[in-house]
Amino acid sequence: MPVLSCIFCLPYNSMRVFLLILWCWVCSSSSSSTYKNLALASSHNSVDSFLSDAKPVTVVVTRITVLTAQDLITPDQSERHRKEKKRLLEQLNKNDKSSRNSRNRLLKALHGFSRCGERNLAELKRWKSHYGHVPRHQKKVLEQAVRYSEKLNINEQLIWKNHQLCEEIVRAALDFYDITSNELEGFIHESEAKSEPADRISVSQALKHYVRDWSGEGAHERKTFSCILNTLAVYAPPLEQRISNPLRVLIPGAGLGRLGFNITALDGYEVTTNEWSMFMNVAYRFLESRPNAGQHVFYPFIDSWSHHATTADLQRNVTFPDQRLDTSSVLLVEGDFTTAFQGSRDSFDFIVTHFFIDTARNLMSYLETIHTTLRKGGYWINSGPLLYGSGPWVQLSLDEIIAVSEHLGFEFLEMGPTCGESTFPGKKVRWIAGIYGSNERALNINGYRVQSWVARKK
Ligand SMILES: C[S@@+](CC[C@H](N)C(=O)[O-])C[C@H]1O[C@@H](n2cnc3c(N)ncnc32)[C@H](O)[C@@H]1O
Repeated sequence: MPVLSCIFCLPYNSMRVFLLILWCWVCSSSSSSTYKNLALASSHNSVDSFLSDAKPVTVVVTRITVLTAQDLITPDQSERHRKEKKRLLEQLNKNDKSSRNSRNRLLKALHGFSRCGERNLAELKRWKSHYGHVPRHQKKVLEQAVRYSEKLNINEQLIWKNHQLCEEIVRAALDFYDITSNELEGFIHESEAKSEPADRISVSQALKHYVRDWSGEGAHERKTFSCILNTLAVYAPPLEQRISNPLRVLIPGAGLGRLGFNITALDGYEVTTNEWSMFMNVAYRFLESRPNAGQHVFYPFIDSWSHHATTADLQRNVTFPDQRLDTSSVLLVEGDFTTAFQGSRDSFDFIVTHFFIDTARNLMSYLETIHTTLRKGGYWINSGPLLYGSGPWVQLSLDEIIAVSEHLGFEFLEMGPTCGESTFPGKKVRWIAGIYGSNERALNINGYRVQSWVARKK
């Protein structure tokens, strides 16, 4: 009996893109049973031509599965998402200095992702040429014992697989930020003519955040979240109150945003994340546009050959996201934390800083911004190390941060045991071991005594 089993997927995310994924298994009634297996992912036009070219067949439909847009691609965004996107695009299109600067940072990030294959290949070629210095008799051993050239060649193939992901990220960003490929190509051309190469390291860091935030492998790095979630549970009003009046939470320097999603999953929280790096934002917009669990695969560790126990570890892939993102639940506001919330005095019930405060050029501006954006009686929860970057204007020790915060009007409160042991006697700061490094099988550990506190704005 002829059988047709079709799965029609009719998402409605965008008026411009009409995506149809159709699998048809057509089985003829003859004993020789011929199968046609068609998989089609196409634009409107090629769907039309597929349908017009199709030969008529008589079929019995045995199963139809309708997948909603919720299952497939980004759901329609909430009103606050639409408003923020409008604001962001208007700002990126203005002709003042700060907008030109933001657009430039965005194009730089897109340049980086567009060239991720070439830039990593150039690095691999350098390693290949270094291998050329190894004397012939030693090479013979290396080839016989571990097939070193094969390892180099496999890595080259994996670089191109990662490049496919980078290309998808670029496509999603062009669409989201409404940038034409002509503008990007022009930018790339000009930059390279001025010998300004694509930024390989920032792309690699952003991609590795898919592991830290959105893969099963990153779970060990997210252990520090429990202190934050438990502290919220202690200081937030009960669920019934939160549901009718959701608590506003801001997470500056959110990277790829996982903590925000874990907080909204608790219900009764309206989470806003904030991130300055366009490399991170472009990587996040990709996830937002393709949020299904297990949808993406890449090889995050091939760009650094240090600290691997086995070559299989080095060349292993990682799948992400480990769970579907409910993209309408968390709002990303792009930009510098100290300026993006200037119009948001006394607005948030909680500000959560996770591996963030030490990124400040001027830590005092971060502390002031946290203080002014929190409402009176609101809470600042911090969890992170004190690893000051290059060129900070002020570098405070932990005891100084506590003293300055108290001076600004914060009162430090008790935290539960999930935040670890007390760091100093008589101070309400605790520490737990926390990892930041994204490769749980590596032979090194990039770890910190992560300092946590909760402080109320008086
Ligand atoms: C160490 S990363 C941590 C990211 C994330 N919180 C996590 O734990 O994975 C710090 C993040 O802060 C961002 N950042 C640095 N300065 C910022 C600023 N002024 N405003 C907003 N984000 C900033 C960086 O781009 C980076 O993504």
